[in-house]
Amino acid sequence: MKAMIIYYSRSGNTEKIALQAQKDLQCEALKIIPEKAYGNYITSCLRVTKERKARVAPAFQTPIPNLQNCDVVLLGYPVWAQDLPGFVAAFISQCNLEGKTVIPFATYGMSGINWTLKHLTQLCFGAEIKYPFDSGTFKKGNYQTWIGQVRRLLYNEQETAVSSVSGAE
Ligand SMILES: Cc1cc2nc3c(=O)[nH]c(=O)nc-3n(C[C@H](O)[C@H](O)[C@H](O)COP(=O)(O)O)c2cc1C
Repeated sequence: MKAMIIYYSRSGNTEKIALQAQKDLQCEALKIIPEKAYGNYITSCLRVTKERKARVAPAFQTPIPNLQNCDVVLLGYPVWAQDLPGFVAAFISQCNLEGKTVIPFATYGMSGINWTLKHLTQLCFGAEIKYPFDSGTFKKGNYQTWIGQVRRLLYNEQETAVSSVSGAE
């Protein structure tokens, strides 16, 4: 099975996970870049509030990738206003994810990835969403457990059982 990581990160938290996963899975990673950078935390919050009110889907400059040979898409984003960032949602809605497995991962302050999954399901038409993973500022997710699950899906790896031989010293 072939995987690809698609992600956005403004301040580096989600990127850390994306790049570690890229190393662990040895696959391509693509960062979604908004057309206009969001700047610092305050300017980002103000702009996101405006965009939500105006119901505009902000533009992005990253070309839509050809996912034809890809079976699994790991999709990473920060939780913004209890949702996916608007331009990330716009980007995903233009990807052809039909028949693929989408594995979402997110970083957040207080509200985890579950807030985003209903919207994500609507965006990933025809895809199966599996193994959502999140990691918060105060509640870290267990990356090793998650990436182990993903590896087993991709490589059909068996769980490495530590076998004990009875009677051995
Ligand atoms: C515009 C904006 C909105 C945010 N909204 C939320 C939110 O609704 N819930 C939450 O838990 N964290 C929220 N956060 C915090 C980020 O999700 C968190 O800091 C995340 O780890 C940032 O990821 P990044 O470093 O990859 O950009 C928000 C941050 C920004 C900039």
